[in-house]
Amino acid sequence: MHKELPPGYMDRIAYPVIPAFIVAGTKERVGGMLAAWWTQLSFNPFLMGVAVAPERYTYRLLIEAGKFSLNVVDFKYVDVMPYIGDVSERFLKNKISKAGFKVEWDEEFGIPYIGEARGYMLLKLIDRRKYGDHDLFVGEVLKAYADETFVDGRWDLSRYKPLMYMGRTKRPAKVKRIYVTFREAEIKEVEFAGGPLKKYSSMRYGVLNELRALLKKVGSLDNEVFRRGAIKILGKYGLDEEDLKYYIEELSRGL
Ligand SMILES: Cc1cc2nc3c(=O)[nH]c(=O)nc-3n(C[C@H](O)[C@H](O)[C@H](O)COP(=O)(O)O)c2cc1C
Repeated sequence: MHKELPPGYMDRIAYPVIPAFIVAGTKERVGGMLAAWWTQLSFNPFLMGVAVAPERYTYRLLIEAGKFSLNVVDFKYVDVMPYIGDVSERFLKNKISKAGFKVEWDEEFGIPYIGEARGYMLLKLIDRRKYGDHDLFVGEVLKAYADETFVDGRWDLSRYKPLMYMGRTKRPAKVKRIYVTFREAEIKEVEFAGGPLKKYSSMRYGVLNELRALLKKVGSLDNEVFRRGAIKILGKYGLDEEDLKYYIEELSRGL
């Protein structure tokens, strides 16, 4: 049986999450914070979004600098996280250095990042939009770097113990942040749409590939020849005209 969560606990459904350690600023002043609310938004261009409240000093630095880094750190730094995620650079100057981290600069883009980070992305701020009590800052990823615990296209979790977050305890008792990691990772490689799913996966990519080939031949989504051809292709896959508008939207984004 499921139980309803009170409003103050609804975010917990999404946890544990590896918080991003945002770093932004100028040579004169660099700041940063932890952000549990971050996500990839697009592959092409490669966009990341992060929700930041106006009160954060990092909010100001993000706007002033127009660029930033998103870092991930190992669980071994858990005890200094209050410097990054509980107190503000506005009041504790150089809190990142005071926490014991080294701020490094990417010379190519002039963006600060954390020397001890397991990995980091360098981003250019391209958009900011208000959502409720936070703003969604959208950054285009310029480059990403990882340390020696990233091997053959993925993290070696026997050496990298990600710092993850599970939420905080509530007042009136002393507030505690709950951080978590794991001693041993259970890893399983699952075949992409294997077994009985193969045929559905081929349908999915089949229809897209046929539509793309048609588009290449016809040259534009916005003409009757494409429309008629596309409806014929969709028909072969048991799809109807209603689906076409979504495929047109999908194809238009690749142009
Ligand atoms: C694990 C963790 C996750 C957090 N996630 C967010 C977040 O997604 N957005 C946000 O605005 N604040 C978030 N915070 C709060 C800020 O990190 C915190 O207010 C920080 O002290 C701001 O520092 P600044 O004023 O120097 O920018 C989080 C804090 C912690 C500890």
